Amino acid sequence: MRIGLLTGGGDSPAINGAIRAVVRRALSGGHLVTGFHKGWHGAIHDEFTELDESSVSGILPHGGTILGTSRTNPFKIDGAVDRINQTLAAHGISGLVSIGGDDTNGVSQKLSELGSVRCVGIPQTIDNDIPGTEFSIGFDSALNIVTEALDRLHTTASSHHRVLICEIMGRDAGWLALLGGLAGGADCILIPEREFRLEDVCTQLQDRRKREKHFSIIAIAEGAKPAMLDEQITQDESVDAFGHVKLGGIGQFLAKEIQERTGFETRTTVLGHLQRGGVPSAFDRVLATMFGVSAVELLEQGASGVMVVWQYGQVHSVPFAEALHSTRHVPDAFVRLASLFN
Ligand code: F6P
Repeated sequence: MRIGLLTGGGDSPAINGAIRAVVRRALSGGHLVTGFHKGWHGAIHDEFTELDESSVSGILPHGGTILGTSRTNPFKIDGAVDRINQTLAAHGISGLVSIGGDDTNGVSQKLSELGSVRCVGIPQTIDNDIPGTEFSIGFDSALNIVTEALDRLHTTASSHHRVLICEIMGRDAGWLALLGGLAGGADCILIPEREFRLEDVCTQLQDRRKREKHFSIIAIAEGAKPAMLDEQITQDESVDAFGHVKLGGIGQFLAKEIQERTGFETRTTVLGHLQRGGVPSAFDRVLATMFGVSAVELLEQGASGVMVVWQYGQVHSVPFAEALHSTRHVPDAFVRLASLFN
């Protein structure tokens, strides 16, 4: 079998571990692997690298993706799906592994439904928002970065008696902010799943001062929304090829409101793309390895239109339709848990 492999969407530290696992398992099964560059872009424009053992040697601890990535949506480009079909036929590819979030794997879902090629997806996103899996690769690494950032903010917030706000990625899901906030001991965690009132946040900060707590740390998700606004705060009006707005700016907004309303000196740190870079965590390396091996084994077994997932401590596979139907949100139980530490 010749297997096509691509990585699309926002990157994260653990992708190379999944590429390595796909290639190593494929080669040991007697298969060949063609890696397309920059996600679906490479499949449309026939930009590729043949991946052998030396291509993946030493990449496990490196962040990013050796194949490159992009947010290319072939279903929004005239003739792109036909060109992908031509590329796959020219290479003799009979199975394709896509590593990415709901957008990248959503394209695989459509291609497998159209009968273009058998596709298996690997969930990869720091947002951890794919419904079928408890963990997507990249999330745990990003979570560790958020935790360390909050630890560092604590010491300087304490010295200066300030309110320090940390704006955290995650799009419309609060996983990274909530679990990062819990792990980093944030005093207030604001996520998209729960609209918040500025009055309540200010009261909470004032109460802390009354309890002789002279600083506060707020972990806020980029997609969190105060009740006084009609919409989430975005960087500009543009949307990407999959229709997503660019979230960002809620941290600055909140800092200004808190300072004006309470008089507490307040600053914001936007973690931004730092959350997506650097060395993958041990958990992510292992998960990426398990997912990569499983994806190839599923193709060997003739599977198509499925995604590998982590459920109840094991790797399983579920149909794309089950894995990609919506955004996986933080359940109320986690929100209640976080509120105990306000
Ligand atoms: O989906 C991953 C993610 O990092 C989101 O958390 C964030 O909103 C978005 O990508 C940022 O995208 P870009 O890299 O295009 O700025």
